[in-house]
Amino acid sequence: MTATIIDGKAFAARLRGRIAEEVARVKAAGVTPGLAVVLVGDDPASAVYVRNKGRQTAEVGMESFEHRLPDDTAEADLLELIARLNTDPKVHGILCQLPLPAHIQTDRVLAAIDVAKDVDGFHVSNVGLLSTGQKALVPCTPLGCLMMLRAQLGSLAGLEAVVIGRSNIVGKPMAQLLLGDSATVTVAHSRTRDLGEVVRRADIVVAAVGRPRMVPGDWIKPGATVIDVGINRAAGEAGATRLVGDCDFESCAAVAGAITPVPGGVGPMTIACLLANTLTACCRAHGLAEPDGLAA
Ligand code: GUN
Repeated sequence: MTATIIDGKAFAARLRGRIAEEVARVKAAGVTPGLAVVLVGDDPASAVYVRNKGRQTAEVGMESFEHRLPDDTAEADLLELIARLNTDPKVHGILCQLPLPAHIQTDRVLAAIDVAKDVDGFHVSNVGLLSTGQKALVPCTPLGCLMMLRAQLGSLAGLEAVVIGRSNIVGKPMAQLLLGDSATVTVAHSRTRDLGEVVRRADIVVAAVGRPRMVPGDWIKPGATVIDVGINRAAGEAGATRLVGDCDFESCAAVAGAITPVPGGVGPMTIACLLANTLTACCRAHGLAEPDGLAA
């Protein structure tokens, strides 16, 4: 069997097209959705993410507000900026780029963001709302994975799903989203015994461990859908590096029914889902109808 390749780049482009249409509808009602992104310090990878976020926000017709603060910014000053963004009526979504410098307590900063503007879905209140099956803002990467799974499989009800990884950003919210769609969910992690045996049961595998090519093809049940969240740098040819996922793509694709590639799979969906969350937050803030299929 050769797997269907799930083209996340094309999926994300379609999603952004849909969001742009909905932004136009919301603007016609007199509101422009706005996203504020806060970057503290000059981590080069974070700077690239933030630039891409700003560009894509503008491309779908939303307002983008960028706040770049120096590496030695005091926590109190960052909290003050967040307090201002919380009350700014032009701002519907706030994202504080992680990681933050070591002298700043990430939990305090995340807790300071207005729950209704928390488009990362990292605030404990949104985590609680998601895990109790209530309307929440949901972390972008797992939301993107869920959208691709629904598009590929239709109903997820009753399917065996194994999530490998238990991070707050991907593994745990992914498990909650799959539960919400009535899958039978197992969360596996670095201490799981017989990981291969556990993964072999799965109709859906979501790999989010951050270890290059950790999942071999002989762990995959024939026909399973494999979502690879990993983005790892590995040695390529002639001393260059290349991006690889958490799954060994060639051997997994030979067995799976469908699989996301790295790059070009889950990655492009994350920012598209950030835009979706910003639009959702804007609609909720203004009592406007929420577009179908953009939230969990
Ligand atoms: N750093 C890398 N990815 C993310 C993300 O999705 N959200 C935030 N806030 N920081 C990040």
